[in-house]
Amino acid sequence: MRQRATIVSRLRRLLGNGPNLQFLDPKEAYDLWAETYDAADGNVLLHTEERIIRPLLDSLHLADAEILDAGCGTGRYMLQLLEKCPRRLVGFDSSLRMLDIAQGKFASNSSLSLVNASFAKLPFPSGRFDLILSTLAVDHVPGLAGIMRELTRVLKSGGRIILSCFHPFGALAGWKRTFSVHFRTYAVRYIPYSVADYLNAFSSAGLTVVRVEEPVIDERVKHLYTAMGKEDFYERSKGHPLSLIFVLQKAIS
Ligand SMILES: C[S@@+](CC[C@H](N)C(=O)[O-])C[C@H]1O[C@@H](n2cnc3c(N)ncnc32)[C@H](O)[C@@H]1O
Repeated sequence: MRQRATIVSRLRRLLGNGPNLQFLDPKEAYDLWAETYDAADGNVLLHTEERIIRPLLDSLHLADAEILDAGCGTGRYMLQLLEKCPRRLVGFDSSLRMLDIAQGKFASNSSLSLVNASFAKLPFPSGRFDLILSTLAVDHVPGLAGIMRELTRVLKSGGRIILSCFHPFGALAGWKRTFSVHFRTYAVRYIPYSVADYLNAFSSAGLTVVRVEEPVIDERVKHLYTAMGKEDFYERSKGHPLSLIFVLQKAIS
């Protein structure tokens, strides 16, 4: 196992990780990553974030609800949401390649609509959705206050938003959001929003924070770092949060 990890880490260094790491804008990155995104079961960020989001979704009664998955990508949470029998689940994303993968997986489900759109201007009427889920997407997009206002506009009075992002601690520590395609590693550019940026954007959009979670790097993901040959990184980073998750509520009007 250790020998395999050493080989993998040497290969990565040779093929672009380290000083030769190539940074991509989100559009180019996710178009490139789409094909293998769902196979990224070694992605620690996704693992730790799901630990909170899946039970949260499980706890909600969503039968007959209108749900928006904002920046849905390949639809990581769509099966779980569709099993709750919503009236409609709408997913939007700016990457056509990510949407293609979601389409391939869920095309036969008549409760689902997929839309190619951007956070900047949502093609939905005001007050439509009971719940908005947006995972690991908003911190790829400039103008957080405007994004939160636009998400709140399409939310019903009293509706909730479940939002996750890369933790500002990781951004301050200079951690990269990397992925590998054909043995080459790339980093996706993201915006290092601070906790204050998030809280100010929520309050200016009229959202109240109901719950906050900060899943950390711990023993449960140690094997993923070992498989990447990154035991040193694990030892230095255990106990540190990797994502920041908010449950938000729009005021009842
Ligand atoms: C890390 S992926 C997350 C996908 C999915 N929500 C998940 O958790 O697996 C980030 C997604 O945000 C999308 N995205 C980035 N910028 C966007 C924008 N301006 N408008 C809509 N989607 C965007 C990307 O195309 C990508 O699918």
